[in-house]
Amino acid sequence: MDSRRPFCIVVSIALVFLCAAPGARAEEPYREKWRPQFHFTPAKNWMNDPNGLVYYDGEYHLFYQYNPEGDKWGHMSWGHAVSRDLARWEHLPVALREENDVMIFSGSAVVDWKNTSGFGKDGKPPMVAIYTGHHTKKPLQNQHIAYSTDRGRTWTKFAGNPVLDIGAKDFRDPKVFWHEPTGRWVMVVSWPVQRKVRFYSSPNLKEWTHLADFGPAGSTAGIWECPDLFPVPVENKVGEKKWVLIVNVGSGAPAGGSGCQFFVGDFDGRRFTAEAPAGKGKESALWADWGRDFYAAVSWGDVPKDDGRRLWLGWMSNGEYANDVPTSPWRSAMSIPRALTLRKTDPGWLLVQRPVNELERLRGESVEVRLKDLSGAANLAELNKVTTGPFELESELEPSAESVCDLKLLTGTAEETVFRVDIPGRKLTLDRTRSGRVDFHKRFPGTASAPVRLLDGRLKMRLFVDTSSVEVFVNDGEAVVTSLILPTAREYCLDLRVTKGDLRTATLRAWKLASAWTAK
Ligand code: FRU
Repeated sequence: MDSRRPFCIVVSIALVFLCAAPGARAEEPYREKWRPQFHFTPAKNWMNDPNGLVYYDGEYHLFYQYNPEGDKWGHMSWGHAVSRDLARWEHLPVALREENDVMIFSGSAVVDWKNTSGFGKDGKPPMVAIYTGHHTKKPLQNQHIAYSTDRGRTWTKFAGNPVLDIGAKDFRDPKVFWHEPTGRWVMVVSWPVQRKVRFYSSPNLKEWTHLADFGPAGSTAGIWECPDLFPVPVENKVGEKKWVLIVNVGSGAPAGGSGCQFFVGDFDGRRFTAEAPAGKGKESALWADWGRDFYAAVSWGDVPKDDGRRLWLGWMSNGEYANDVPTSPWRSAMSIPRALTLRKTDPGWLLVQRPVNELERLRGESVEVRLKDLSGAANLAELNKVTTGPFELESELEPSAESVCDLKLLTGTAEETVFRVDIPGRKLTLDRTRSGRVDFHKRFPGTASAPVRLLDGRLKMRLFVDTSSVEVFVNDGEAVVTSLILPTAREYCLDLRVTKGDLRTATLRAWKLASAWTAK
């Protein structure tokens, strides 16, 4: 038995005892089994896509697809929360509700600084939400607007809705932004079955003119949903930006099911032109995340210029099994917020995602372990003192050319979540087949692989491990794997073992992460 085991067993017994102790309430809000502690979740019921991400007056707004009436998809409305630091969220009342046989599907929100819509009041700009009206009694989706003059607290649907209607059954998820050079609003909206996104412009958010279409291109196996279009800074090129077009796909992602692809190119205010590769087919697609659980990712508008970051997050689930994930009384979480940059490599662009720095405020006690010339199993007993709950781990490995090693999380007597670093195979594979509850859907267990490379002979991995998810950011975010896991054993041991070759050095540093629901 290795030295970690007794410690883990003691922690596990203590946790089991604490949870069963008289007076401990299993259903205390945000303490339920699998309740994420630093990822956003609704207090109860079903959630899917992030919507209406916009910054205004010191607050990051997060609206989201929400069922106010149940814990499965249905009665789609916009739930609402705000945060001042992207780490801690305050729940607000449902912003937009299903009404008159029209559900409130995904969309965006803007601050109408010039009051082009005329909805402003007392010299203050209105917030305007642009969303898809999904008609439940006829095969129709069209675009609607609603406005708020009290910092998003209450909303009025526009009497002239819809503002854009092409008579289509599938036509949804408008993302709107102000295009400064042409002095007008631009909408990118998805035409899912056609595998196209359409661009429109408007002087006032009420009248829209068709500009151009993009697609089919990249991954076309699944329907196209939740597009976004924004400029992203290019790394190591001061002041240089490229336009990135995001297209989420309902199926056909690398690890199966839904996923998020992107295109890099230019936007002239009318048309998006992708740089190669933008051919057809899965091989030519560029993917934002290699895990199973990152979908409908969209970005925040109006982040202050002196901040300058392009921030986004995604829905941390997969259309294949989202309705069946066995959490209660809520279902689904958002990923952690991430800041985007572009990295040029041979052969192409990488969309680099870094967890927002604000999450560092959740860091607590930390331990660092430095290892040399490792083959076989590492002794991580010290690290395991801080990985007894949600944690962050930074690791840097210096492997030999033939190295294969397994970094295992949440290992216990019967469960483990395994990251296999395969240097000759140039890939990182997450295996969640033995990660805990996996039997609720046949598509849940399995593996997901990301292409990885060594930089200066090293591989960096930064992991965020919450009660029911793991996100790994490789080489400062050039490859990301986001995955749900549902461990049952409450055993939190980390394990690192080299199965081929060796690691010349390995540095691992872990931090306890505080619960965002109680952090000050
Ligand atoms: C993506 C999606 C969107 C739609 C919304 C409905 O997950 O299908 O295209 O607007 O969910 O909830």
